[in-house]
Amino acid sequence: MATHDRIKNAQLRSKIMTAEDAAGLIKSGDTVGMSGFTGSGYPNALPPALADRIEAVHAAGDEFKINLWTGASTGPDLDGALAKADAIKYRLPYNSDPIERERINRAEMDYFDLHLSHVAPMVWEGFFGNLDVAVIEVTAVNEDGSLVPATSVGNNKTWIDMADKVILEVNSWHDERMFGMHDIYYGTALPPNRVPIPMIHANDRIGQCCFRCDPHKVVGIIETNQPDKNAPFPPLDDVSLTIAGHLMEFLKHEVAKGRLTNKLLPLQSGVGNVANAVLAGLRDTPFHDLMAYTEVIQDGMMDLIDDGKMICASSTAFGLSDTASKRFRENLDFYHDKIILRPQEISNHPEVIRRLGTISMNGMIEADIYGNINSTHVMGSRIMNGIGGSGDFTRNAYLSCFVSPSVAKGGDISTIVPMVSHTDHITQDVQVIVTEQGLADLRGLPPKQRAQLIMKNCAHPDYRPMLEDYYARSLKNALGLHTPSMPGEALSWHQRFLETKTMRV
Ligand code: COA
Repeated sequence: MATHDRIKNAQLRSKIMTAEDAAGLIKSGDTVGMSGFTGSGYPNALPPALADRIEAVHAAGDEFKINLWTGASTGPDLDGALAKADAIKYRLPYNSDPIERERINRAEMDYFDLHLSHVAPMVWEGFFGNLDVAVIEVTAVNEDGSLVPATSVGNNKTWIDMADKVILEVNSWHDERMFGMHDIYYGTALPPNRVPIPMIHANDRIGQCCFRCDPHKVVGIIETNQPDKNAPFPPLDDVSLTIAGHLMEFLKHEVAKGRLTNKLLPLQSGVGNVANAVLAGLRDTPFHDLMAYTEVIQDGMMDLIDDGKMICASSTAFGLSDTASKRFRENLDFYHDKIILRPQEISNHPEVIRRLGTISMNGMIEADIYGNINSTHVMGSRIMNGIGGSGDFTRNAYLSCFVSPSVAKGGDISTIVPMVSHTDHITQDVQVIVTEQGLADLRGLPPKQRAQLIMKNCAHPDYRPMLEDYYARSLKNALGLHTPSMPGEALSWHQRFLETKTMRV
C-alpha cells in the first residue's frame, strides 16, 4: 500500500508536507520529543532536514539549538545528523551515537542520562518543563486519527499526549501486518492517584493497539519509506560463548536446587554484543517455553523464538540487524502473537519487573571486587552510552546478573578493579557477575567473601595477583575491615591507564 493510502483520516491527509517544511515548524530553543529506541522507529526525514536548516543558520552566524528527548538511542539520521550539525543543546535520556558521544565528552552539549522507566513519569510530573513538539514515526494513521505504532514504542504515547504540536512521519517501510503487536497502556496516573499496573504475566495485554492522538495537534505529516538502521552484531566469539556457558551452568544449578524450573522466569537481556551472545547460549539447553520481559529484542532473542525455545517476548523495541529484520518481515505472521511492544514506562516498570521476577543479564564496563558496577563511564569520566534500563531491571529482578569479558582493549584494562571509577549499580543490587574466567554468585555474601569470590572466579589471571595484593594490604591498612579499601590507591589502576595506556604495572 502506498504511504498516501496509509493516512486514512481525510483531515490529517491535508497536512502532508515535505520534511523541509515540517522542519520549519521547529524553533530554536524548542524541546522536541522524538520517537526512536535503538535504530528502530525513529523519524528519519525531519531530523536531517532540520540539521541542514540549523547548519545554514549557524553558517549565517546565528544560534539555533534544540533540546532533544527520545525513547533511547536512535540511528544516524537522527542523533548522528543533529549532533554533526551541533544542533542539540540538551539530550535526554540515552545515546549511543559516536558523533554525539564525542560532543558530550567534549562538553559541547548537555546530556542527562536517566533510568528509562523514569522518563515518561517525570515528564508527566512536570520535572523537565514543557514539551513543544513531538515528532513520531508511525506505520499508519487510522480513520479516527489514532496511530499504528512502528518498530519501537518508547515514550511516544507520552510525547503525543504532552506536546503542544505533533508532527508525524508515516513510514511505508513498516509492515502494516504489525497492527495488533503493540500494547499501549493508558492507565498511568500521577500520585496520589496511581493504581497497580494490572500485569501478572509477561505476555498479558493490558492496553490498546494504537496511540490516541488529538488530530487538532497534528501540524504536519511527512511520508517516508526508509528502513530501520541497526548495526550488525559481530560473530559470536569464544569469550562471549564461554560467558554464556557459565551463566547456563548457573541457571541449571538453580533448577537443580528447585529455585527455578526449566521454564526459568522472564528473561531480560541488555544491549550490546555480550548480552546478545549470552542468549545464544540458551539454544542448546534443556530450558523451554521461555518468556522474555525486556526492553530490546535483539537477534539472539529472535533466534530463540525461531527455535521454539521462547514462546513470547515483551519489549518496547526491536534492535535487529538487517538480516534478522528481514527474517522478521518475511515471517511476520509467525511472530505476530509471540511479540508485544509496550511503552517503555511499562516494559521497564519496576513494579512489573519485581512481580514477574525477571532474570536480568546486562553488560558492564567494570565491576569492583565488592560487586559495584559501572555501566556507563570509561575511566570514571567518559560517558559510553548511558544507564538505559539496566537500573530498572537490576534492582527489581529475581536474579540480577552482569556479564563482561574480564579484560578490555587487548588486555590493557581489567574489567575487575579495586574500586569502580563510577557507580551505576550498587553492590546490594548485584547478585551475579560473570566473565569468561567464571561466575561469582554473590547472593547473601558479606563484602569480604564477595571480594574473594570475584577475584578468584572472575578476574583475569594477569590481574588476579594484583587484586589479591591490593586486597591483602587493604586488610592490614584500611580504617574499617567491613569493606577493606585504601582510597588513595583504589583508583590508581585507572590513573595508571590514563598515564601509561595500560593498567598493568
Ligand atoms: N574500559 C574501557 N572500555 C571498555 C571497558 C572498560 N572497562 N569495557 C568495555 N569497554 C569497551 C570495549 O572495548 C568496546 O569498545 P569498542 O567499541 O571501541 O570496541 C566497548 O566498550 C563495548 O564493549 P563490549 O565488550 O563489546 O560490550 P558490549 O557491546 O556488550 O557493551 C556496555 C557493554 C557496558 C557498553 C553496554 O552493555 C552498555 O552500554 N550498557 C549500559 C546500558 C544497559 O545496560 N542497557 C541495558 C538495559 S536493558
